[in-house]
Amino acid sequence: APAGDVAAAGLVDAAHPFLGAAVPLADGQGALLTGRLSPATHPWLTDHTVMDTVLLPGTALVDLALRAADEVCCDRVDELTLGAPLVLHEDGAVQLQAVVGGADATGHRTVGVYSRPETADSAEPWTCHATGVVSVAARAEQEEPPSGPAAWPAPGAEPLDTGGAYERLAGLGLGYGPVFQGLHGLWRRGDEVFAEVRLPEETAVAGFGVHPALLDSALHAIGLGGLLPDAGRARIPFAWNGVSVHATGARTLRVRIVPAGADAVALDATDEAGRPVARVDSLVLRPVSARQLAEAGRAHGHQDPLYRLDWTPLPLTPEEPASRPDGQWTLVGGDDGLRAALEDSGLDVGFRPDLADPAGGAEEEAPAVLLATVDVRPDRDHPVAHVHATAHRALDLLQRWLADDRYAGSRLAVLTGNAVAARGRGEEDRDKEVDPAQAAIWGLVRSAQSEHPGRFVLVDLDRDPASARALPALLASGEEQFAVRGGTVLVPRLARTEHPLVPGGAGPVFTTDGTVLVTGATGLLGRHVARHLVTRHGVRDLLLAGRRGGAAEGMAALEAELTALGARVTVAACDVADREALARLLDAVPDGRPLTAVVHVAGVTDDGIFTGLTAERIDRVFRPKVDAALHLDELTRDLELSAFVLFS
Ligand SMILES: NC(=O)c1ccc[n+]([C@@H]2O[C@H](COP(=O)([O-])OP(=O)(O)OC[C@H]3O[C@@H](n4cnc5c(N)ncnc54)[C@H](OP(=O)(O)O)[C@@H]3O)[C@@H](O)[C@H]2O)c1
Repeated sequence: APAGDVAAAGLVDAAHPFLGAAVPLADGQGALLTGRLSPATHPWLTDHTVMDTVLLPGTALVDLALRAADEVCCDRVDELTLGAPLVLHEDGAVQLQAVVGGADATGHRTVGVYSRPETADSAEPWTCHATGVVSVAARAEQEEPPSGPAAWPAPGAEPLDTGGAYERLAGLGLGYGPVFQGLHGLWRRGDEVFAEVRLPEETAVAGFGVHPALLDSALHAIGLGGLLPDAGRARIPFAWNGVSVHATGARTLRVRIVPAGADAVALDATDEAGRPVARVDSLVLRPVSARQLAEAGRAHGHQDPLYRLDWTPLPLTPEEPASRPDGQWTLVGGDDGLRAALEDSGLDVGFRPDLADPAGGAEEEAPAVLLATVDVRPDRDHPVAHVHATAHRALDLLQRWLADDRYAGSRLAVLTGNAVAARGRGEEDRDKEVDPAQAAIWGLVRSAQSEHPGRFVLVDLDRDPASARALPALLASGEEQFAVRGGTVLVPRLARTEHPLVPGGAGPVFTTDGTVLVTGATGLLGRHVARHLVTRHGVRDLLLAGRRGGAAEGMAALEAELTALGARVTVAACDVADREALARLLDAVPDGRPLTAVVHVAGVTDDGIFTGLTAERIDRVFRPKVDAALHLDELTRDLELSAFVLFS
């Protein structure tokens, strides 16, 4: 914010890229610095990801602590322990606060860095990302700032290869974009590591002590230089001790890093002339896990909004006369149960077998609403074929309706049974099992509705006469999709939901001790899913299936990438719509690492307009979608799966 604005509010310009204003506390006991941070205002921050999550780097938190210290004339961060990572979301901003307290008897002050989502209401707590102590550096340290080696590269230091360094780090889950890819030279001499780091030319450094991306780049030398044991694990800063900055505005650093106890290093940074820029007495780095990051994202209150479908009772006014067809209602098709319910409802309903033969001859004026069902005799032994046959019949009905000019001004109300799991909020599932064939009718009719507004209505009806009695009123309501249960009319509404993968935080959904099958893993989303399962859920055994298997382009690279992340990957060529082939695939899963989850991503698209759809095209799309889902369900029903995920 411009300084003028903040002055009017009784504040001073904080002169830091992340902070808008500073205010000294009236009791002389410290200061508060506030700001706002988002990928939109600081796009370069998205160049820093840990396991696909954008995190504010620990070097930025220490820079904020130094800036807060400066507000009360301190120049040293004695210690700063990092707590919850500050996760940045693409579409969200956070409010920032850096708080520095009053001086104790020895001149030390507490410091803390906090954030909360900008959208938070005032009661929402702040998340603490770092706490520590700041002070004024001892005079000796001020007068004798450490300096780097006179000669550069340091005499006797062996150059290390930095080629592919950022690919290697990416393999550990540490993703660095251009601003953070600052490591340009790396040397080792005994247990000392030397690094040269640089910012891209256009990066603005004003306001920072040391630009966080520059200091972060220096830390890349720790892992790449092999300074800490277990170099194969992603580590991020955990605790800073004795941090001071001697010169601001650096764009290049020469850095010397040495071990400083278990999991810790000490770091001296100079400019190209060997003049001191910054010093860190000790930095402890800790391995980071996907779980911690997921928790951080949640603790931070931000969640991409997720929705569930609720079935909400629709208050109906008594039927309006205009909605009623003059005289009789007509039902095309329908089984005995439905006919009985309609007859018992007191509605005057006529029945006829097919759309083609109007009850009263060709001249009969078309009704405002015609009721119809899609009747295919259920085939319990061949549920897959039954879904296909039902979809074909529905397509035929709808296309004939659209093509018949007599009905151009009419609405077709398609009646189904158990096509949807209509469930009101907080209620028991009032439905029997959803019938996939009836559900397929909904899928088709909904497509037709979007292309032919006002021509179709969907009503999932139980066999209660009270439900049938609600038909006139619901058809007058202007809504297009209904479920009617025991006379109560329900309509679908989207509602915000909790994250389904962390139900009450009750443990991981994808367990790390079993095999997860990803179908369609050769495709665009399947690859993302596979990667996501490994980096975010810690899945260790993956079975990746697609018809082409390993022959699909890029599969070898994906396999190598996931293997480098520590996963055991099996790539299989399998048509998952082929029940026997799928059964063989599942049988081959080793007993020691049994199948614990299925993510069914496989699918083919064949998009077109509704009137151009054919039974053959439906079959082609249904094979991986419907057939495979039913087979997967059937073949894994007796297994203890923690997740069965379907892509729509
Ligand atoms: N991308 C989107 O924007 C989007 C949006 C909404 C929904 N979806 C759904 O998400 C899923 C994946 O989409 P995508 O964009 O990743 O599509 P994609 O790149 O075409 O990937 C689909 C994968 O499924 C595999 N597959 C198809 N039939 C199969 C079968 N019978 N057995 C085994 N594997 C089979 C294909 O591999 P092979 O050819 O090797 O078998 C293909 O690699 C689809 O089901 C789609 O309906 C995608």
